[in-house]
Amino acid sequence: MQFNPREITALAQAEAAAPRLDIYAFIHKALRAFMADTLMGLGRADVGDDLELSQACARVLELVDFCRSHLHHENAFVHPAMEVRAPGSSAAVEHEHEGHEQAIAALASGAAQLMACPRERRARVAHALYRQLALFVAHNFEHMHQEETEHNAVLWAHCTDAQLAEVEGAIVASLPPAEAMVTMRWMLPYLTPAERALVLCDMRQHAPREAFQAVLDMVRLHLSASEWDKLARTLALECS
Ligand SMILES: [Fe+2]
Repeated sequence: MQFNPREITALAQAEAAAPRLDIYAFIHKALRAFMADTLMGLGRADVGDDLELSQACARVLELVDFCRSHLHHENAFVHPAMEVRAPGSSAAVEHEHEGHEQAIAALASGAAQLMACPRERRARVAHALYRQLALFVAHNFEHMHQEETEHNAVLWAHCTDAQLAEVEGAIVASLPPAEAMVTMRWMLPYLTPAERALVLCDMRQHAPREAFQAVLDMVRLHLSASEWDKLARTLALECS
């Protein structure tokens, strides 16, 4: 994808447009954060430290698992909602997802190879994996932008916000508890305070009390004192 400066001018137009439900927005913030953090973590890992190296590799494996699951959700829930209303509209992205599956398998095997690698070759293998992951991240940042623009244009033209909320709700309901927790781990700290409060307020109203508390305890570890104060205040005042 070529960089298009006109995309920047779209910022001004976004302000004028009536807000629609963007089912990609929050989960893609989570993915961008998870990808960026994992890439930087791998780039600074001490390959002479067994624990640090295995943690960096385990993080790469966690990330690619999350990416695989995410693309399956898009294929299984979002694309059928598009295809039934606008046949062919998800074909290009669905095709890219096949390439992502191959890249994910290559990254997983690269991480396993690095973990098993003799100490003297670790630095070279780690750097090769770092560059491979950087390309995957770069491609995925553009891919997510395509979904947020082209796919949302189709979804907004053919679906009501209630229908989109149904698609999103079906994805959330399909998540096993461990994956839901990983999603919250990477989503909540990287939302704005208003978005964070919105997600947690909804969760307080619909999820079991223990699940809500576990997520709240987890997110607190990843927020600054000021972010935590804002969240606690909003939850107390506007979400009881
Ligand atoms: Fe995608």
